[in-house]
Amino acid sequence: MATFAYATTTAIVFLILLPLSCSSESILHHHHHGDNSSVQKSDVDLLEFPLNLEYLEAEFFLYGSLGYGLDKVYPSLAQGGPSPIGAKKAHLDDFTRDVIEQFGWQEVGHLRAIKKTVKGFPRPLLNISAASFAHVFDSAFGSPLNPPFDPYANSINYLLASYIIPYVGLTGYVGASPKLQGATSKRLVAGLLGVESGQDAVIRALLYQRAELKVEPYGITVAEFTNRISELRNKLGHEGLKDEGLVVPKQLGAEGKVSGNILAGDEYSLAYGRTPEEILRIVYGSGNERVPGGFYPKGADGRIAKSYLKKE
Ligand SMILES: *[C@@H]1O[C@H](CO)[C@@H](O)[C@H](O)[C@H]1NC(C)=O
Ligand SMILES: *[C@@H]1O[C@H](CO)[C@@H](O)[C@H](O)[C@H]1NC(C)=O
Repeated sequence: MATFAYATTTAIVFLILLPLSCSSESILHHHHHGDNSSVQKSDVDLLEFPLNLEYLEAEFFLYGSLGYGLDKVYPSLAQGGPSPIGAKKAHLDDFTRDVIEQFGWQEVGHLRAIKKTVKGFPRPLLNISAASFAHVFDSAFGSPLNPPFDPYANSINYLLASYIIPYVGLTGYVGASPKLQGATSKRLVAGLLGVESGQDAVIRALLYQRAELKVEPYGITVAEFTNRISELRNKLGHEGLKDEGLVVPKQLGAEGKVSGNILAGDEYSLAYGRTPEEILRIVYGSGNERVPGGFYPKGADGRIAKSYLKKE
């Protein structure tokens, strides 16, 4: 009985799917959990790539605010990927901790949204140790900060470290958007972009409020920190100006009228876009999409990132 019913169901399903698969070659028909038959093949790589950044953001924000990450709040989302290196709870004031926890849960939603749409991959190995961030700040200043920068030490340091993260995701979504074919993909990326931009705006606003504050014990202003990080990302990306700090020469401000730069934008105040290659150069800290390191000691995952790791 059971076997007969199963065979009948299989035959019916097969007959229903047959005309579909003949008529639409470019449409995926995986039956794995998380796959979605309305996403075109050409979009899949572009939708999977940002998982790398969403994992980084989820772990950094969850740990920073709660002291634990995906392994505790949503283990299945990690899909067996290794736990992040050096993640920990930051010493945050109540307001900042509240905001960062919200970001953390938003990133969990982003991971779920992407994985509901494409198959994706397990969490890559992430190095979000204090030393990993210190290395980025040392590179930004061109010489080692003394003592080494600790992102987890206090709210201002944590916000400066956060300045590094959602903005990169934001530029990636802007860069991916004109390459997407399907409506489902475009809707997903618009939704992700909206919230990533919002997170970046919140971080920038909180930092802008304290732009002239000197970060202790370095005696360097918050504005200068953001300018240095943005310059570093421009340098690593190798594609010119796509990143701007909180206080810029007037010609870079909106309509060339203001030097306050609470949001980064091009000459039309439109968000800058970056390719996956540019993003890899930045998050690896190497300036080279073939040389992993930085937050991704073993490299990022997905077809795009892997294509650069294989051919040496
Ligand atoms: C594919 O995913 C989109 C967005 O999550 C959803 O709206 C749509 O219903 C899904 N389609 C199928 C066939 O599962
Ligand atoms: C994490 O990053 C720091 C700073 O670059 C480095 O010293 C450490 O070896 C890294 N850990 C791993 C496991 O890659």
